[in-house]
Amino acid sequence: MKSYSIKELLEKQPVGDSVEVNGWVKTFRSNRFIALNDGSTIHNLQCVVDFENLDETVLKQITTGSALKISGTLVESQGKGQTVEIQTEDVFVHGSADPETYPIQPKKHSLEFLREKAHLRVRTNTFAAVMRVRSALAFAIHSYFQQNGFYYMHAPIITGSDAEGAGEMFRVTSLDAKNPPLDESGNVDYSEDFFGKETNLTVSGQLEAETYAMGLGKVYTFGPTFRAENSNTSRHLAEFWMIEPEVAFNDLDANMDLAEDFIKSIIQYVLDHCKDDLEFLESRLLEEEKSKPQTERSEMTLLEKLKFVVENNFKRVSYTEAIDILRNSKPNKKKKFQYSIDEWGADLQSEHERFLVEKHFKCPVILFDYPAKIKAFYMRLNEDGKTVRAMDVLFPGIGEIVGGSQREERLEVLQQKIKDLGIDDKELWWYLDLRRFGTAVHSGFGLGFERMVQFATGMGNIRDVIPYPRTPQNAEF
Ligand code: 4AD
Ligand code: MG
Repeated sequence: MKSYSIKELLEKQPVGDSVEVNGWVKTFRSNRFIALNDGSTIHNLQCVVDFENLDETVLKQITTGSALKISGTLVESQGKGQTVEIQTEDVFVHGSADPETYPIQPKKHSLEFLREKAHLRVRTNTFAAVMRVRSALAFAIHSYFQQNGFYYMHAPIITGSDAEGAGEMFRVTSLDAKNPPLDESGNVDYSEDFFGKETNLTVSGQLEAETYAMGLGKVYTFGPTFRAENSNTSRHLAEFWMIEPEVAFNDLDANMDLAEDFIKSIIQYVLDHCKDDLEFLESRLLEEEKSKPQTERSEMTLLEKLKFVVENNFKRVSYTEAIDILRNSKPNKKKKFQYSIDEWGADLQSEHERFLVEKHFKCPVILFDYPAKIKAFYMRLNEDGKTVRAMDVLFPGIGEIVGGSQREERLEVLQQKIKDLGIDDKELWWYLDLRRFGTAVHSGFGLGFERMVQFATGMGNIRDVIPYPRTPQNAEF
């Protein structure tokens, strides 16, 4: 008797063979039809049992959520929507699940309810599909870079620097928070801390990736990053995964080319390898759309959106052009919202970004050459002295999915910038060394992994595309 995953069994269909599968019960109908799922695929396997020949205690334990081993003969199925089923000969109960207390019942649960059950929600079709797509995307990302001559670099999680200079860091300390040692001026004395200095969880691996690009040429990081920003939105997590390629000798144009090619490649990968899950997620969204008024319904289905991104060029627009477009845009009467933005130099709000992508260009947009004042210290200053070679990739339904730039490679310009911004250059001596020894033009970007998973799965809330979301006031699991 051969043991199969349900995915393998449905692919190979060894009709007539004695087979064995393990999984969890989705439903048990009429004391006869078990729908079993083992996580390998969105599809359940129907196992037909002959309850008259089944031990009474076993029969009682076949309830939604219980874990079973089922053996029997694979036969062709008469049932709708399935080609094969198991004619069950033996049922072994690995573990039962009390129907009175098991929270995942065979009805539709709200995503909010399931967030409270983060340890069990992967047993639902929606979360299993999302997490399989997430896994496939991670594989696609590594494949893309490995096939294109990049080296995978592990950036440190604990750092002494603030890569983004935004002060949104989680401290890492071994000191007694209630009773820390103080220096003569009454400040916390970090020399007594584990590392002998202030440290924090990384907000980005970029600065370290830059040092490696300036030796290995093309590198990428793919790791967790942390931000203590108090943003309770459907796009922000306190702990998220970021992919950060960094390439020596690439300028901003080459950086944009890389971002576009990379994004298209990983979306194509999920289109090619996650068809069943995407179709399931698409039907789920179509169901959700039905409750919306016609005007708010999406013009494209999930699969159409993904194909659209792969098949069309991203529109490249400078910040200054974007401001002009926004200024000349008509106010949205219904919402009484004016898309116009008065001041050159202001940061774009997500409403602005979404207007550009969803209403104006109707395709992914790469905005570049932002005002220096609203971007991080390390970005390459343009000849105009007021804009930097920054780029953000904006996606429909998501807004900013990628942020990147060409880096400032000139020592004096970088030193001046650090000084102007009041950043402590003692923390960045090693970063400045890159500009002292064999400096060169180089560029990179960061893709927010969860935002990409959101786009690929159509999930509205970022909390639903990572196994255990960390958000303000929430780290239950
Ligand atoms: O734009 P950000 O802050 O850029 C950087 O960190 C650069 N150091 C990247 C680089 O050039 N190597 O972040 C990059 C991306 C954003 O575009 C967004 O997709 C995602 O990371 N991101 C978040 N995702 C979830 N939750 C948050 N709090 C996020 N903050 C940024
Ligand atoms: Mg950004």
